[in-house]
Amino acid sequence: MSEVARLETWRQRLDGWMMYVPFGALLASSAMVPIAAAAGLPHLPFPVTALVVLVTAGWLLWWVSLHPQWRNDRGRMTVFFAGLVALIFLLVWCSSFYGFFAWTGYLYAGYALRGRLARLAGVSVMAVATALAQAGGLSALAEPSSRIFFAVLLFFNLLVANALTLIGAMNDEQSAKRVEMIDELARANAALEEAMRENAGLHAQLLVQAREAGVHDERQRMAGEIHDVLAQGLTGIVTQLEAASATPGPASARHIDAARKLARESLAEARRSVQALRPQPLDSAALVDALGEVVSGWSALHGVPASLITTGVPRSLLPEIETTLLRTAQEALANVARHAAAGRVVLTLSYMEDVVTLDVRDDGAGFDPSAVPDISEEGGFGLVGMRERLGRIAGTLEVESEPGAGTALSAAVPAIAVGAAA
Ligand SMILES: Nc1ncnc2c1ncn2[C@@H]1O[C@H](COP(=O)(O)OP(=O)(O)OP(=O)(O)O)[C@@H](O)[C@H]1O
Ligand SMILES: [Mg+2]
Repeated sequence: MSEVARLETWRQRLDGWMMYVPFGALLASSAMVPIAAAAGLPHLPFPVTALVVLVTAGWLLWWVSLHPQWRNDRGRMTVFFAGLVALIFLLVWCSSFYGFFAWTGYLYAGYALRGRLARLAGVSVMAVATALAQAGGLSALAEPSSRIFFAVLLFFNLLVANALTLIGAMNDEQSAKRVEMIDELARANAALEEAMRENAGLHAQLLVQAREAGVHDERQRMAGEIHDVLAQGLTGIVTQLEAASATPGPASARHIDAARKLARESLAEARRSVQALRPQPLDSAALVDALGEVVSGWSALHGVPASLITTGVPRSLLPEIETTLLRTAQEALANVARHAAAGRVVLTLSYMEDVVTLDVRDDGAGFDPSAVPDISEEGGFGLVGMRERLGRIAGTLEVESEPGAGTALSAAVPAIAVGAAA
């Protein structure tokens, strides 16, 4: 239960008890009237008094006890209070001992009247009734000395009643503000809790996404490695073995030697990629030299003239970037060997200020880049994998080709030098 609701229940309970007090006061006052009469104090005839008492009790019962829901109805409560004021004055007229009941009018002023001014007016009227009772009833006003006595009593009654009402009103306002503050605090707390829960949810979601992204990236990397290292090697071996069986005599030994060399190299490369090491050619040489080695090896193996041109000032790039460039060149050359039947291949490595580009041009069969078949068991992973690998280091790939007009492949990567990353 909220703090506000708890306070509200308590207030209602207190209000409930208060509603019995006036009946007790009415009963007690009535019990004293015969005693006062016996002592010779002035009073109206008993039946009249009894009638007024009954009407008063009925009035309270009807407007308050039986219809507590009317409390918030300003119009009804004004009628009730006005009637009560009249009845209290009547009772005091019956006997001044009803002064013991008259003060309960203060309670009803708080109950029935809303707003500070209305309450002050209500308790002031009640103060008149109370002072009248204290002065000895209406008949006392006949004598001048009693009138002075009444005026003094009225002054003090007004003072006390109004002061208490003002203090009460201030207290009410203060506790209402406090309740409001507590409520606001509770709302802020709830909002905070909600935000924290949401945060925890987001965090968990991010973790899952990060894990999934990691798995996806690693899968892509593995696929690239298998394609560039194992599949390329095996393709070369198959080509050499086929050539060997097609060539009779001692010439076949040359192809078998080439196949054996390819198998060894592929095995070594496969081991390196399992350990996530740099490709062997890059490990022992700078990118320019490693590329030169790859180009001359490819040229010798396939009998196709190939050359490497370097422009700009070569410099050491981040290992990941150099590896990507080397793999791009290897796959481009593998494609030339497999698909182009080219007469010549030229590779151009250009070091510029912000980017490094690698162009591979052949004068072979060419193809329609927009009609490349999807990835299948036959292959088709080369260009896709190349593009993905380049994408991972913020590089790009462009393929220009046309059937019969050769192929130009251009990769661009950011020129991030070793040591610049930090
Ligand atoms: N230099 C080229 N000359 C002619 N055609 C090419 C050249 N490079 C690529 N192609 C064409 O583009 C297609 C897609 O090449 P890609 O490297 O993606 O796959 P693949 O070489 O067929 O198979 P994989 O590389 O997966 O073993 C090739 O099948 C080929 O038709
Ligand atoms: Mg390929």
